[in-house]
Amino acid sequence: MVRAMTRNDDVHTPAATHAVLFGGGGDLSMRMLLPALYHLCRDGLLPDGFGVIALARSSESREAFARRVREALEQRHGDSFDQPAFERFAARLDYLACDATDPEALKALGERLGDGARPLHFLATSPSLFAPITEAIGAAGLNGEGARLVIEKPVGRDLDTFRQTDARVRGVFGEAAVFRIDHYLGKETVQNLIALRFANAIFEPLWNSVSIDHVQITVAEAQGVGERWPYYDEYGALRDMVQNHMLQLLCLVAMEPPSSLEPDAVRNEKVKVLRCLRALQAGEARACSVRGQYVEGLVGAERADSYESERGQPSGTETFVALKAHVDNWRWAGVPFYLRTGKRLGDKRTEIVIQFRPVPHSIFEARGRGDMAANRLVIALQPDEDISLTLMNKAPSLERRMRLSRVELSLTRTLLAEAGGRRRIAYERLLLDAINGDSTLFVRADEAEAAWGWIDAVARAWAEAGLEPVPYAAGTSGPPQAFALMERDGREWHD
Ligand code: BG6
Repeated sequence: MVRAMTRNDDVHTPAATHAVLFGGGGDLSMRMLLPALYHLCRDGLLPDGFGVIALARSSESREAFARRVREALEQRHGDSFDQPAFERFAARLDYLACDATDPEALKALGERLGDGARPLHFLATSPSLFAPITEAIGAAGLNGEGARLVIEKPVGRDLDTFRQTDARVRGVFGEAAVFRIDHYLGKETVQNLIALRFANAIFEPLWNSVSIDHVQITVAEAQGVGERWPYYDEYGALRDMVQNHMLQLLCLVAMEPPSSLEPDAVRNEKVKVLRCLRALQAGEARACSVRGQYVEGLVGAERADSYESERGQPSGTETFVALKAHVDNWRWAGVPFYLRTGKRLGDKRTEIVIQFRPVPHSIFEARGRGDMAANRLVIALQPDEDISLTLMNKAPSLERRMRLSRVELSLTRTLLAEAGGRRRIAYERLLLDAINGDSTLFVRADEAEAAWGWIDAVARAWAEAGLEPVPYAAGTSGPPQAFALMERDGREWHD
């Protein structure tokens, strides 16, 4: 198996023949990647003869590894674990113990792959290994025609460090062969945003500053940081969630209609949005952003520790961020995008709220709060998927003065029925696309750079303004300052 160490720039090639999971015994592999591949295999979606090779340092037999995978799947599926499907999957599964940063050791991988293989290398490892492993893959000649590489955030901690790692990666694989995963793009409802906006003519004429008052994006988590603090403490909520997932959601809401669903048509539009984001200035950091960190509290009925005690010492890292962002272009001039994310909040909830403007002149007599509400489109991503539109309706009564009530048009049941009851792991979609060489749902280098550029400006503004995290009790909706941020603008979070 000899391949020149040339960059592979063209992935309009046949499907991959193998998935090679670097860090194959680790958490991401066991919890997400192997289950996702098993589901694809069970549903007959993997190409014929497709193999899965898990690579890790510890020596373990193929059989012992397959047993561990089986146990993880049994635990996940309980009674619905499908034994014959697992056997079909296990027949494709291989395990190789080796040091993946050593090109000599990787020759053994080349032998397993055999001639003419088109491997999809998935680096499910510590980010510090992305560049060394990629270079070893190149030196071992495993980056030839049809080979591709998948990496997941965090790539870098700011624009400079992103560029350093990315340059080394792209010295081995061309841009078309690099698949940067943002797992939010693999979620069904996130893709549904594209369908909602561009398959329904009724929204487009309203999708602008004339009709929309503001947009809210909330990604709330009930989980704390826990054991992940060594990673998290270096990144914080801004870099862990806003730089990637939240900005991707913002892009899908704000982008212009792409000319097609071709990868570059979509990604060109997203990168334009990122480049229109107004940089946060130190002078407005306090008015337009909030950093928070959880202290002890109650999540449900359970006592939850503070971040500081999980971390074992005081830390200046934020576990909560709220930001008021602006997309400076014709469509969105004057429409704020409020972003909010945090750990150890009351519940897990991801949603996008499009708040329309109120009617310009009301002919109805208002009888208190909420009697005459502006239309609102709520796109709920998790835990339940739903798209709902709030409309005003006449409340049935014979009163002389017409009374209004809010009603919601909700797609919950339709979405559930269409999904056939089972929600797919986001990685199923993404792995399948990477196997087939479709990069529409992956982040291009210029997108990642533009996102980092904006995040760097936020971090700089915070540093210059001396903005430290404020405390919020675990189990609440975040610090009061996040509510004040909205109230100052005469608005409120959708809670
Ligand atoms: C990851 C972050 O990218 O996304 C985690 O590193 C976060 O901190 C997770 O918990 C959230 O993903 P999901 O799919 O559970 O919303």
